[in-house]
Amino acid sequence: MTRLVVHGGHVHHIAKVLGRPVDSFIDFSASINPLGPPSSVLNATQQALSACGHYPDPSADGLRMRLAKEHGISPDSIVVGNGSSELIRILPLALSLCQGFVAGPTFMEYETSLHIAGARCTYVLATSGDKYAPPMEQLSLLVKALRSGFQKDQRRGTESHKAVFVCNPNSPTGRVVTSRSLRTLYRQIEQAGLWMVVDEAFIDFCPSHSLIKEISNARRLLILRSLTKFYGMPGIRLGYMVGPTETVATIRRLLPPWSVSQFAQEAGVAALDDLKYRQRSVKFIQQERQRFMTRLRGVPGVRIIPASANFVLVELPSKCETAGLVSRLARQGILVRDCQTFSGITQPALRLAIRYPRDNNRVIHALTKALRDS
Ligand SMILES: Cc1ncc(COP(=O)(O)O)c(C=O)c1O
Repeated sequence: MTRLVVHGGHVHHIAKVLGRPVDSFIDFSASINPLGPPSSVLNATQQALSACGHYPDPSADGLRMRLAKEHGISPDSIVVGNGSSELIRILPLALSLCQGFVAGPTFMEYETSLHIAGARCTYVLATSGDKYAPPMEQLSLLVKALRSGFQKDQRRGTESHKAVFVCNPNSPTGRVVTSRSLRTLYRQIEQAGLWMVVDEAFIDFCPSHSLIKEISNARRLLILRSLTKFYGMPGIRLGYMVGPTETVATIRRLLPPWSVSQFAQEAGVAALDDLKYRQRSVKFIQQERQRFMTRLRGVPGVRIIPASANFVLVELPSKCETAGLVSRLARQGILVRDCQTFSGITQPALRLAIRYPRDNNRVIHALTKALRDS
């Protein structure tokens, strides 16, 4: 039997391999808001069609103004990208990083981007035993240890550039750090002459934990945001980063011109304006997450990691062979994310997006059966 290597959101590839239409799958592997994309976004992209005979605005002024209003910051401290992954890719280069300390297990693009820029990637790992609670204590100790090195380097005039990466809420673990706790860490990081990069791709599902209010007074803080997950529009590609204006200007210079299409820019403005959709989404995910997690806890042999975003990390029995399980579910039209490929995930585990109750019940049923048969 052919084994399918499944990464989050690879629905087109899997559909081709299995000879089935894309629409015949329920995709739990990419953590996308099941309510989206909102009709306001679809209407805006439709209208943007009439402008497709022109290049898009290379500096995305309209969208940056809207984002600036949203966060109460200057448009000059915002840069937009073709998905936040585009910005992640050039960040280590823009900051001339020689090393990144990554709170893991987490999104693998930080590691990839650090390596592409010739920088080292060092993980500070949360553990399964601790239900992947974010490793704040270890990060704090690390930063304190790096502080004296920074002071020495400064005296010698040999300052090197390092950054701490924190994804909040974190993927794939679903764990969140409070803004208070992150703020404390940030202060230590700034004193130690490091950068802090906070990826808030999923923060719209728990907005009170965002650090974005700190941005105007922070010299070494960069925050990444994605519009693709919360607004259910990963195919449109839109993300942004906020930070000090000089760093934002450097990133802009490194980006290819016109990387964000006019469709994406118009979609972004429409999405941000759609307050009703935002409220509905937060409420829906909060309620369904509670129900989904309660039901998942009833699946024999699994352990559920506390979740704060729109996905849940499900630990499987130690003997479970996840690749086979993922392939089996795919053949039933159910796509889930095998977490074995994340550095620092030590137990067999799946990440499941939270979808509509009917779909969620279906994955629980299929998982229960597959584990029983294995
Ligand atoms: C934590 C995290 N950050 C950033 C991204 C990139 O999202 P996008 O490029 O669609 O904005 C992803 C995508 O999966 C993610 O999981």
